[in-house]
Amino acid sequence: MRKIVIAGNWKMFKTQAETQDFLRGFLPHLDETPEEREVLLCPPFTDLNILSQSLHGSRVQLGAQNVHWEDSGAYTGEIAAQMLTEIGVRYVIVGHSERRQFFGETDETVNLRLKAAQKHGLTPVLCVGETKQQRDAGQTESLITTQLDKDLVNVDQDNLVIAYEPIWAIGTGDTCEAKEANRVIGLIRSQLKNTNVSIQYGGSVKPNNIDEIMAQPEIDGVLVGGASLEPESFARIVNYQ
Ligand code: G3P
Repeated sequence: MRKIVIAGNWKMFKTQAETQDFLRGFLPHLDETPEEREVLLCPPFTDLNILSQSLHGSRVQLGAQNVHWEDSGAYTGEIAAQMLTEIGVRYVIVGHSERRQFFGETDETVNLRLKAAQKHGLTPVLCVGETKQQRDAGQTESLITTQLDKDLVNVDQDNLVIAYEPIWAIGTGDTCEAKEANRVIGLIRSQLKNTNVSIQYGGSVKPNNIDEIMAQPEIDGVLVGGASLEPESFARIVNYQ
């Protein structure tokens, strides 16, 4: 049975005070959320501690947005896996397109981060997806296949979530058609040794499109950016029909 994972990627938003405000508006809605749905928040690093304390005993799981492959070292601005696990973080986003685009992330460093996350008991959420230019050139399938081949070398597929995030849909309001997202996620699944890996869709997921997205047979959840910042909208997404 594939796990349903509904995750919010807060990127570089929310101070600790704003995080507390979010929880006050969000947590009451979880009373109606089916137990089998994993609800995950991936805040900036500085909010992890306060969330870990506020969410203690709650069903909401915590994720980070990045992790380094070394256990310690002179890597300014980076975070080691055990610094995350010691405060109760269980997931980590790896290879988000914004890290690939702005911070020099490569398939090789993504692979190192995936293996380091798993070595320390974290579940990585691997992001893959094509640009508009690649889609328009008919390169979506080959690009994603190449990303998977390189990113997943010696990665344990029994402890993995994948997020298909077409780059042209991120932050644009131009959500990928649900059936097309389902087709691409089916392609991703066909490339995996473990076909039970949970595969999310990400890219302008909103309250008005979540039900159609989650009705697709290949889609096991969503990775939500902007709409996860507002408690009511993220609650509607978590409680999709
Ligand atoms: O990681 C999820 C994110 O990239 C999607 O952002 O704002 O399009 O939901 P957004």
